[in-house]
Amino acid sequence: MKKYPNDSDLPTIEQKDQDKNPWVQIFQTQNLMIPIELNTKERIVGLFVFENQDLPVGGQRHLLDITGTPFTTQLASMKVFYGPIIPSLQKNYEMALIKLADSIDKCDGSMHSDETSLWALRIAEQMGLGREEIKQIKLASKLHDIGKVVVPRQILTKPGPLSKDEWDIIRRHPGYGSTLMEPAKSLEAVRPLVHAHHEQYSGAGYPDGLRGENIPLGARIIAVADAFSTMTIRRIYRNSISVEASKMELIRGRGTQFDPDVVDHMLALLSGKNK
Ligand SMILES: [Fe+2]
Ligand SMILES: [Fe+2]
Repeated sequence: MKKYPNDSDLPTIEQKDQDKNPWVQIFQTQNLMIPIELNTKERIVGLFVFENQDLPVGGQRHLLDITGTPFTTQLASMKVFYGPIIPSLQKNYEMALIKLADSIDKCDGSMHSDETSLWALRIAEQMGLGREEIKQIKLASKLHDIGKVVVPRQILTKPGPLSKDEWDIIRRHPGYGSTLMEPAKSLEAVRPLVHAHHEQYSGAGYPDGLRGENIPLGARIIAVADAFSTMTIRRIYRNSISVEASKMELIRGRGTQFDPDVVDHMLALLSGKNK
């Protein structure tokens, strides 16, 4: 797999040439445009074009146009283009992914990424982690579900239980999210947290079945914040459960689904106690 080029390998672009450079134009638009390629030869076959109001339906239509096949199978090999994202535009790419997270929330009328980010930040602070680690956890939790952009909307918003095939698709979203983050060098430390946010302390999670402390601490924190947000936010397709009932669920999953220490810190926060 081709590695990300060093900054020094990249062409420098004079201000006067910027208007002519397609990469600059791409990232300066209001829309989010993510270059993707669907084979292993690292060739752009199209641009994922998103407008905030249309996500994820618009994105999916584009992808279907590109592949001509149902994305449930084709997307397993989806890769983000590794090409020369200009170093000064790395931040723009990061911002584009943040907008993507907001757009996905808009589809089900929630503020799930912000909520998860807020709780993860508070847990990390409560645990006394360092500033840099807290910053990474905050960003990772904001971006944790961006891979859902390639999960069909009818699956994401289905009120009833999911079929096995539908679960198989959902279970790919941490991997897709991590793939979308690959071109941004600034997200290197954050990506593993997104990739592992559905791992479970007992080893029963996905995508890799990691267990206990083999799961990055940030991902264990996001898992608790994510679960709490999912339980307490009212989605357009289902009602929330109460904070008390959500606490009971966290306690039920303490040591199995969740890191017990992280749950204890979350419970302390919810009771208004500082540990
Ligand atoms: Fe998720
Ligand atoms: Fe989530």
